[in-house]
Amino acid sequence: MQYEKYMLNTNIPKYFKQRRQQLVDSIDEGVFVFPSVQEGKGAVINYLYRQDSSFYYLSGFDEADACIVIVKTKNQHKFIVFAQDRDPKKELWDGERYGLKRIKEIFSADEVYHLSDLEHELPKVLSGHQHVYYSYGKDEYFDKRVFTALENLRKVQGRSGKGLLTLKDPVEVLGELRVIKKAEEIEKIKHACKASVAGHNAILSQAKPGITERQVEAIFEYTIKMNGCSRTGYSSIVASGANATCLHYVRNSNELKAGDLCLVDAGGEHDYYSADITRTFPVSGKFSQEQKEIYEVVLKAQKATISALKPGVPYENNYKISCEVMTQGLIDLGILQGSLEENLEKMTIKKFFPHNIGHWLGVDIHDVGMYSDEKGNSRSLQDGMFLTVEPGLYFNPEDDSYPEQYKGIGVRIEDDILITADGHENLTAGVPKEVEEIEAIRQEAIK
Ligand code: GLY
Ligand code: MN
Ligand code: MN
Repeated sequence: MQYEKYMLNTNIPKYFKQRRQQLVDSIDEGVFVFPSVQEGKGAVINYLYRQDSSFYYLSGFDEADACIVIVKTKNQHKFIVFAQDRDPKKELWDGERYGLKRIKEIFSADEVYHLSDLEHELPKVLSGHQHVYYSYGKDEYFDKRVFTALENLRKVQGRSGKGLLTLKDPVEVLGELRVIKKAEEIEKIKHACKASVAGHNAILSQAKPGITERQVEAIFEYTIKMNGCSRTGYSSIVASGANATCLHYVRNSNELKAGDLCLVDAGGEHDYYSADITRTFPVSGKFSQEQKEIYEVVLKAQKATISALKPGVPYENNYKISCEVMTQGLIDLGILQGSLEENLEKMTIKKFFPHNIGHWLGVDIHDVGMYSDEKGNSRSLQDGMFLTVEPGLYFNPEDDSYPEQYKGIGVRIEDDILITADGHENLTAGVPKEVEEIEAIRQEAIK
């Protein structure tokens, strides 16, 4: 019988190299330095490792204790990897490593060094360049090492009269690269969305009064993993009743009670891309009158916002449309007083809708990429952008300024939208959100 060990991925796609080239093409001159996320130092237990998003996006290399350096050269770019070498004693505990020799070949690196050589080799790479792109202030340990490399370069420069390179944060250039999703990314995104849609549908059809929020979370995790996801993209929010008015409730310890709503914000991650979906449903098969009123205001805002999405439309439109629709909705319900204009002027909706309308979605849940230009003007949507639309209304039960019957209601509806050449595609539309659809599924579920 043949036993197989954990298999390293030796088939690294060409697109990582193309991304590195695009990165250097977007600057005039310079060297990029990206450290890895460190393995949980000092931890007794190993947690599933996740590489730094930009590091992974540019290399496909997922080992800890490493650093990648990308140098703009005259004609193309040079890719240098600092990493750990093979070590049978360490590998016994943590699994096989690529090792320096294999990294060169598998990851198409031009040069490979041991990480312990960083302070010694990096000055040589930086010498003669004017800019170093490095996200300082994120990781004290690597900051120290990169600054030591700069000190070493200063020593080498001696009394030449030359100053050190200018330090720049790579986040803006990277943001521009990452904000437009490429074909291979869209494929992974679609996989994550499909698995997450299955996860939310499993919850809708299986959650019963009396089970805990954590058990709801378990239904989701089970389903996404059965559908090819390695983990959730973030801690799942399963908030029943008034817990839904706490925006980042992740305790998930209460029991689902008939009569309450349950808000689930959860997404599965597939190969570094995650979905980010929220649905709110009645634990029993039916929304109460007030729950339904609020739910329909949020749904109307979400649908109006999504339907306007297409290339050329300013990003800020999303927030404007949702605020307008929800403000009018709350005026119609008698929760807000005065005209639409007066309320929009004072932005009274912020009390009920305190967060933003969404965010770019990609290798990070709140992905990099600017939302406005240098002058502060909202940027226009483009084919290949991927974003969430997630309006919500929340009525804090401890706030006495709300009409009594709405207290404790929290509703959010969130979908993941890809901007396409001729409009948009809702990649998470497979989870029902119409009142009648949800009620029908829920009534079946609690039978
Ligand atoms: N789940 C995090 C968010 O919706 O932004
Ligand atoms: Mn979310
Ligand atoms: Mn979101």
